[in-house]
Amino acid sequence: MPLITIPNTALTPTPEQSRAFCAQLEAGDILYFPATPVPLTADDTSFLLGQQQTDSSLHKNIAYKPAIDRLSGFDAKTADPAAVQRLHQIMRGYSASVVQFLARFLAPYQQHWKLDYASFRPQEEQNRDLPLRRRNDLLHTDAFPTRPTYGARILRFFNNINPTRTRDWIVSDPFGATVRQFAPKQIAPRPGSALSRIGKASARAIGLGAAIPSLKRSPYDDFMMRFHNFLKENPTFQTDCPKYPFQFPPNSSWMVYTDTVPHAVLAGQYALEQTFLVRPEAMVRPEISPLKILEEIAHAPLV
Ligand code: SIN
Ligand code: FE
Repeated sequence: MPLITIPNTALTPTPEQSRAFCAQLEAGDILYFPATPVPLTADDTSFLLGQQQTDSSLHKNIAYKPAIDRLSGFDAKTADPAAVQRLHQIMRGYSASVVQFLARFLAPYQQHWKLDYASFRPQEEQNRDLPLRRRNDLLHTDAFPTRPTYGARILRFFNNINPTRTRDWIVSDPFGATVRQFAPKQIAPRPGSALSRIGKASARAIGLGAAIPSLKRSPYDDFMMRFHNFLKENPTFQTDCPKYPFQFPPNSSWMVYTDTVPHAVLAGQYALEQTFLVRPEAMVRPEISPLKILEEIAHAPLV
């Protein structure tokens, strides 16, 4: 089982232990904290749990962008400004606590990550009605249509803030195994291709009329995006791949490289999440990074 339980007595690791945690993450393990190291106050938790009832414009997936201290994902026309301000404050605090914790816990990565978005996920995940490529109940590896990483890894830290219900995931074998077994020739990494523009559809999704030249993906990002879609669209992979179910209890946390560990969320409601883009030079086991694996398959550099 690729799950490593971290007891609360192990929250301040030695440099060697820190490196070992990084190595485990890079190999596709989930690090699981039965009692979250970044708890919210009871007040903040009840505020978040109450949003569905009190303000329907705040119950979508809310994103917080720490770099510019911006909250988005709600309808500013209908949302209650006081509630937005409170939510903003909670997300700012959550993001900062996760950063503070991981700067210590994963010391080798500190100063080598780009802090990406945090999110509040108040929707019930079971039976969500989403277009296939956006469904999170199908196993997939993460890739961002409008935020190419150029080989940086997508590390995500989660809190289940639901007071009574588990958040139910399944995961499958990590990247190296999955890509070699399931990725066909048609989606193989294409080295040497010029940086591709972000497609029109994605550009439209972020409010741009057409693709703009400044948003460019490397061949690596192109592959990761195709692979995300390919896995979701592939019934053989969805049925035949090895599956490991995990039910994350109330008030637990976990983190995982979601760009390489195929994952799906089947049920659960109310989670917080912070994403980090960890740069290739920080990997303690670069040889098993998706970039290196794909470059080996392609026999060429991909960023
Ligand atoms: C995902 O990244 O696919 C969703 C994970 C979650 O919200 O639990
Ligand atoms: Fe995902």
